[in-house]
Amino acid sequence: MKVTVVGTGYVGLVTGTCLAESGNDVTCVDNNPAKIETLNAGKLPIYEPGLLELVQRNRHDARLSFTTDLRTAVRAARLIFIAVGTPQSEAGDADLTAVFAVADAIGAALKDEPPGPPGSRVVITKSTVPVGTNKAVAGRLAAAGCPHVEVASNPEFLKEGAAIDDFMKPDRVVVGVRRPEVAEVLRELYAPFLRTERPFLVMTPESAEMTKYAANAMLATKISFINEMANLCDRLHADINDVRKGIGHDQRIGFQFLFPGPGYGGSCFPKDIEAVIAMGRRTGLPLKLMQAVDAVNDDQKLVLFGKIAAHFGGDLAGKTLAVWGLAFKPRTDDIREAPALTLIDELLAAGVKVRVHDPEAMENVRALYGEKLYYADKPYGALEGADGLAIVTEWPEFRNPDFELIRRLLAGHVVFDGRNVYDERTMSQYGFTYYGIGRGKR
Ligand code: UDX
Repeated sequence: MKVTVVGTGYVGLVTGTCLAESGNDVTCVDNNPAKIETLNAGKLPIYEPGLLELVQRNRHDARLSFTTDLRTAVRAARLIFIAVGTPQSEAGDADLTAVFAVADAIGAALKDEPPGPPGSRVVITKSTVPVGTNKAVAGRLAAAGCPHVEVASNPEFLKEGAAIDDFMKPDRVVVGVRRPEVAEVLRELYAPFLRTERPFLVMTPESAEMTKYAANAMLATKISFINEMANLCDRLHADINDVRKGIGHDQRIGFQFLFPGPGYGGSCFPKDIEAVIAMGRRTGLPLKLMQAVDAVNDDQKLVLFGKIAAHFGGDLAGKTLAVWGLAFKPRTDDIREAPALTLIDELLAAGVKVRVHDPEAMENVRALYGEKLYYADKPYGALEGADGLAIVTEWPEFRNPDFELIRRLLAGHVVFDGRNVYDERTMSQYGFTYYGIGRGKR
C-alpha cells in the first residue's frame, strides 16, 4: 500500500520504517529540512536500537523515502498517518497546533481530488491526542473541501528502546473508525504484524483515543503505587524487592511494571497524565487518583537526593558526586523529564560537583548543562575522587561492574542505587554503605 507518514519524530519514524519493512511503499514527511537531510544522508536524528539498519535497508530497497514535500506525498498515498508532536500546553492539555496544521495541509493537498470508493483515502491520527481530536480532524478536512476523506484513530503503544519489537509484535492493534470499510483497510495493513493471534480491536475514534490515555494512566499508576510502597518499606525496615515478589505471584497483580525507582520520566507518562487530568478538568470531573499519581511521581524524583543529603548530614557543599545513567531509561538517549535531571539540579543547587556518565545521553545533557558538569567517556571515569555514586538509570553495563575498581576510584564508599540493581549484602562485602529504593533504609 502507498503510505505517507507526516512527522519524522520517534513515532513517525518507527511507524514509517516498520511499514516499509512489511512491504509497503512509504514516504515520511517533515517540515524540518535539517531532519530530512539527516535521514537522506542515511543517518538518524534519534537513537533507537535496530532502527538505523532498518531505515538503511528499506531506503536501499526503495520502499522508504524522506521529503519535505507534504503535498506530493499526501496526493500519492492511500493512507496518511499524522504522527507529529503533541507537546504539553500551559494548561496541561496536549497542544494540537501541529496536528491541526497537518490536517489543514492534507485538506489543501486533497481538495481537488475526486472522491474514490470507501477506504480509498484515509487520514489516521497516530499522535497521542485528547479524546475528540479525531472528530475535529474530520471537521477540518471537511471544511477544507475534503468531506470524502475518511479518518481513523490508531494509537501507538511503543516503548522507547524496544519500539521496533513493539511495532512488529504488538500486544494488540487498536483502531478507531466510523465505518467498517476503513477498519478493513487498516486490518490489511497490520495483518503481517498480527500473524501470531494478536488482537485487532475495532472501536470508535473516541474509545481508541481514550484507550491510549487509559493504558498510560494505568502504567503510571502502577509505578507511583510501587514507589509509595517502597518509601513506606524504607521507614518500616521492609524490603520492597521481597514485597514485590510476594505480591507479583498473585496473578491478579503480576510482576510487570512494578519496579520502584527514581520516578517515571520520558516523553509520554508525565505529559499524558497531565493531559488526562486536563480532560477531567474540562469535563468537570476532578481525577483525584491521577492527580495523586502525578504528585507521588514529583516527590519520587527527589527521593534519591533526600537520601544523599541525609547521608552527608545535610551539608553537601563542596562534595563531589558521580552519577551513572542520565537517560530516562536504558537503551535511549532521551532525557525528557528524566529523573537524573532533577537529581543533578538539586545537587548543583546544594553546591555539589557532579561527574556524569551515560552510554547514549551525554550529548543531550551537555546541551543543557554545558560545563557545569564533568562528562566521563567511560563509567569508571566518573568515579575518580567522588564522595559517592548515584545510579539513576539501569543500563545493562552498570549491572555487573568491577566493585573493587569502584572502591579504589571513589573517595567515599557509598552507593545510592536509584534502581535497586545491587543488593546490600554484596555491597557491604565490598565495603560500601548502600542505599536502595525501598530496601529498608532511609
Ligand atoms: C511508555 C509506554 O510504556 C508505551 O506503551 C507508550 O506508548 C509510551 O510511554 P516509554 O515512555 O518509552 O513508554 O517507557 P517505559 O518503558 O514505559 O518507561 C517509562 C518510565 O517508567 C521510565 O522512566 C521507567 O524508568 C519508569 N518505570 C517503568 C519504572 O520506574 N518502573 C517500572 O516498573 C517500569
